[in-house]
Amino acid sequence: MTTKISPFDPVTIGALTLRNRFIKSGANEAMSKGGRPTKALVKHHQALAAGGVGMTTVAYIAVSEVGRTLPNQIWMRPEIVEDLKVLTSAVHAEGGAISAQITHGGSFVTGMHVGQRLMSTVSGFNPAGMMKGNFFTRGMACDDMQQVTSQFVAAAEQARDAGFDAVEIHMGHGYLLNQFISPLNNRRTDEYGGSAENRVRFPAQVLKAVKAAVGEEVAVLAKINVSDGVRRGADQNDAIVTAKALEAAGADMLVLSGGRNVESTWFMFGSNMNRQVVADMLRSQKEWITAFMMGVVAKSEPTITFKEMYFLEYSRAIRKAVSVPLAYLGGVKSLANARQAMDEGFECIVLARALLHEPALVNKFQSGELEASGCDNCNACVAYIYHPDGTRCVHRPENDPALSTPVSLTP
Ligand SMILES: Cc1cc2nc3c(=O)[nH]c(=O)nc-3n(C[C@H](O)[C@H](O)[C@H](O)COP(=O)(O)O)c2cc1C
Repeated sequence: MTTKISPFDPVTIGALTLRNRFIKSGANEAMSKGGRPTKALVKHHQALAAGGVGMTTVAYIAVSEVGRTLPNQIWMRPEIVEDLKVLTSAVHAEGGAISAQITHGGSFVTGMHVGQRLMSTVSGFNPAGMMKGNFFTRGMACDDMQQVTSQFVAAAEQARDAGFDAVEIHMGHGYLLNQFISPLNNRRTDEYGGSAENRVRFPAQVLKAVKAAVGEEVAVLAKINVSDGVRRGADQNDAIVTAKALEAAGADMLVLSGGRNVESTWFMFGSNMNRQVVADMLRSQKEWITAFMMGVVAKSEPTITFKEMYFLEYSRAIRKAVSVPLAYLGGVKSLANARQAMDEGFECIVLARALLHEPALVNKFQSGELEASGCDNCNACVAYIYHPDGTRCVHRPENDPALSTPVSLTP
């Protein structure tokens, strides 16, 4: 007889053992200023660790300055390692682990004008860059790939030095490494384009290099799409090829997500944006072009009804195809959902909105105080990534503006 695994059981992922299997998903906190963590960011992740998560994930740390998609985003560099130690120590003091989501935006840069052609798979017109005048892409040559690989490695090493327990290489949602995996962007004719095996070649090389550099000390995760959820994008079969290639490259765990930030946000969230909240927020921040473009994109999306565990069918197909540890993500709202994910053979459960709504959800599940999250998928938290005090659940108190200042121990 096999013993059932509980989501409250510890789990070992590569070099890391977590106290339980609940992971806070990387969800743009918008709590950094000038590329540095703020006091609000420390409070946010400390509260999640105090609330019981096994591991919390700091969203989107760019591997280079041009790898950012938004102007205040953190980019990894030696000068901020001491600041980041404040963040990691605060989480460790609460008994939690902390992961750094590292990535590069490539041609997906919605929040700032870069002033040079954006790196991507091929040269051409860049619809995703229209919001800030980043109209054209530049196809990456071998030198560019080597440089970006070195940047991922350096970012992972600095994350390790700053006390992070894991790095999560983001290969989904439309960022640079996803641009390679997705046929929407990848029209290369060399060994990095064409078949699904070729399209995942560069992301797998990046992961292998990161794993070789830091894999003895920190867990190396990759976040991938189970499908882009859009016509001509990567589909479930591509995702299976991707998962196999990353397993072979040495990934310690794959986090299964889906959708693209521009083309299929409804797929990523299993629900439509609350357009009124999004439009009001963007206008209040004078993000006129972004508001306009989001309106255009929103008009083309189907209306869908939220379903708990909305990526389950896709994720099951990947579970069948690989034996590398997998983290289930997408619409986990209740303890029953988490238990189901365990029964289906996933090693961890990753949550974003339910934990924004209630950072102490894991403790409340464990004590029996709550069986389910009160998050109603209004997705207002997504609009709040444009707020100067950072994201929040609109059913909770506002963030304290006094904490929107960098931790800044170093000048
Ligand atoms: C406010 C907000 C910001 C997000 N930003 C990111 C991000 O920076 N990186 C990322 O990988 N996913 C991001 N996501 C997506 C989540 O990680 C997750 O994939 C998605 O919310 C589905 O999980 P859920 O149903 O548990 O919320 C964000 C989600 C929210 C709600």
